[in-house]
Amino acid sequence: MSVMSFSIPRDIVYGEGAMERLSTLGGTKAAIVTGGSSMKRFGFLEAAQDLLAKGGMKSIIIDGVEPNPSVETVQRGAQEMRDFEPDWIVAIGGGSAMDAAKVMWCFYEHPELSFEEIIEPGSMPGLRNKARFVAIPSTSGTASEITAFSVITDTKNHIKYPIVAADMVPDLAILDPALPAKMPAHVTAHTGMDVMCHAVEALASTAATCFTTPYALQAIDLVLKNLPKAYANGDDMAARTEMHNASSLAGMAFTNASLGLVHSLAHKIGGEFGVTHGLANAILLPYIIDFNRSFTESYAQGEALLGVEDLAQAIREMNSSLGIPATFAECDEVDFAEEKFLEVLDRMSSNAHGDPCTLTNPGTPTVADVKAIYEAAYYGRSMKK
Ligand SMILES: NC(=O)c1ccc[n+]([C@@H]2O[C@H](COP(=O)([O-])OP(=O)(O)OC[C@H]3O[C@@H](n4cnc5c(N)ncnc54)[C@H](O)[C@@H]3O)[C@@H](O)[C@H]2O)c1
Ligand SMILES: [Zn+2]
Repeated sequence: MSVMSFSIPRDIVYGEGAMERLSTLGGTKAAIVTGGSSMKRFGFLEAAQDLLAKGGMKSIIIDGVEPNPSVETVQRGAQEMRDFEPDWIVAIGGGSAMDAAKVMWCFYEHPELSFEEIIEPGSMPGLRNKARFVAIPSTSGTASEITAFSVITDTKNHIKYPIVAADMVPDLAILDPALPAKMPAHVTAHTGMDVMCHAVEALASTAATCFTTPYALQAIDLVLKNLPKAYANGDDMAARTEMHNASSLAGMAFTNASLGLVHSLAHKIGGEFGVTHGLANAILLPYIIDFNRSFTESYAQGEALLGVEDLAQAIREMNSSLGIPATFAECDEVDFAEEKFLEVLDRMSSNAHGDPCTLTNPGTPTVADVKAIYEAAYYGRSMKK
């Protein structure tokens, strides 16, 4: 076997009250990066500033990170960091806030760089010459608190760039379930199914190893048992805690094993129609498990260990219990008009085939396969062979 590596944050602090860890960071100045208004509204920003102050740290807040954060937002935040000179960056929010904070951190440390110069995977120079990074997720979904990834949008050219750099793996992840407990039910469902997709895709990835598969399996088991409970009763703190942990466990698997066709197809249909990441993933997942099954033993092995008869069927049933439609045609989050679907289908299929996540999908799917999966997931056709 060739030499492999497995990278995760140095410290992961988890459980109710984990936010307290902010009072012992051991620095002097912190820049808190956050999204719209939810973290402020629920008092988490004030709590974070109080905890940092308790530890003798001054802090500023860089807020207003939008969903699908832009290059402009990242540049603005980096400038605020350069003015304040923090030795810790504290990202509090969903994937959008954490992703933006990671790239602000890069431009804070390397003001000479342009966005174009960090797009190529592995091109980002080393970080941690000025600051270290703590991530406090408020959704149980993207696992940006664990991963080497950040997704930033070039709003001028309407392109979403996945930025990949091992140094962007945070130093510390704080998993406090009090934050995601405030998510409304539909956000719980969509981000929770994103966790399921991360875990199932990491399990079936051609880059899966004995270091990644245990985390993927544990995450699938936790989502199957807890997502319906967290969706039905947002105050179920036991279920919220398990879902929050599941998100990071899935992150530990997929940041090291990568993903597959579900994410390739979700990225591009998201780009064309604006459908939420987790919702697109959830609709696609059962079709792609059925398509992939003949190319991999990993589902059968996972099913045997987890005591699940048919993973695709279990996910269809879970989607239905979470109010997630079985097809894009039935999805009313955005307008999935058939005319537009047919118009963009070839381009979208070719772009999804070229997505980096396709590289680690089992088998060697063709553009025609990708198109057939899009059609199946739009019209509700079976992909079982
Ligand atoms: N870095 C990675 O590895 C990775 C992986 C997958 C996706 N992404 C990216 O992450 C982003 C999506 O992140 P997300 O799914 O976490 O959503 P998000 O951060 O965009 O947040 C979604 C919405 O929920 C709100 N919200 C967040 N937490 C809340 C809470 N606790 N209570 C109430 N409202 C809350 C936000 O304000 C926002 O309006 C996308 O840009 C996607 O491309 C990154
Ligand atoms: Zn995802």
